[in-house]
Amino acid sequence: MKRVLAVVNLKGGVGKTTTAVNLAACWGETGKKVLLVDMDPQGSASISVGVMNEGNELLDALQRGAALPIVSTGVPGLDLVPSGMALANAGMWLQENGNDILTRCLEQTHGDWDLAIIDCPPSLGFHTMNSLMASKHVVVPVETSFLGLNGLKQMVGAIETFKLQNPDIAIEAIIPCRAQRRRRIHWDIMDTLKEMFPGKVSPIIRENVSLAEAPGRGKPVILTDRLSKGADDYRLVTLWLDDRINGMEYSAVNQVRQLLSAI
Ligand SMILES: Nc1ncnc2c1ncn2[C@@H]1O[C@H](COP(=O)(O)OP(=O)(O)OP(=O)(O)O)[C@@H](O)[C@H]1O
Ligand SMILES: [Mg+2]
Repeated sequence: MKRVLAVVNLKGGVGKTTTAVNLAACWGETGKKVLLVDMDPQGSASISVGVMNEGNELLDALQRGAALPIVSTGVPGLDLVPSGMALANAGMWLQENGNDILTRCLEQTHGDWDLAIIDCPPSLGFHTMNSLMASKHVVVPVETSFLGLNGLKQMVGAIETFKLQNPDIAIEAIIPCRAQRRRRIHWDIMDTLKEMFPGKVSPIIRENVSLAEAPGRGKPVILTDRLSKGADDYRLVTLWLDDRINGMEYSAVNQVRQLLSAI
């Protein structure tokens, strides 16, 4: 796999799955081939692209250190490793078998994907540890609230500790999600984020009803409401992130941003 990117936050409900699914779809829209890996036993990423799964095939692959199960989705450019409850029940077995099982499985998984995006559950158990071990880039969705900031500090501490196991890993981006610009706290938290992570805070994802409704239709927002604010925001963040992980300057992104805001 050329690039592996984990979407992580130990706090629940901050927009991890929404971000993983919609970044993957937006990258697909630009012509890239993307593998979305659902490492959450809740299976939310799978459901969000219209796939219901028990997670037995993924569990079997993890237990054997074998190639991951792949299903195609109706989303252009996007394939999925589906997950489900079976993964939760096997926690103890997996825990005892180390943090590099997913890395081994990914090495066995052959395809022409440009990148893999891993959706993690809100905990630092087996699923997240294995995802961090397999990844080079970490993307952290964060709510622009006081508790969101507190959770982020815990998250940064956990990643720093994890660097002992995977020295290559780096927090690539902080993505402010569910942003409500009319609230004063939003601006306070944004200032703090920019101080804490200079150059790594992405454009914001606004609170948007189309984003909340899309999972119920089993599709990313670019396919349910392609002109929505949610679709615009994720397209822009995808471009920004693409430039970041490919080590380019942001000037092109700023131009797109100006164009979008002028529409
Ligand atoms: N920008 C947004 N605007 C409106 N609703 C959103 C937005 N982002 C996420 N949501 C909604 O918020 C809820 C939580 O989002 P999501 O499932 O992506 O969070 P999560 O961090 O993956 O949660 P968990 O920790 O349970 O895995 C979902 O109902 C989702 O549709
Ligand atoms: Mg989730």
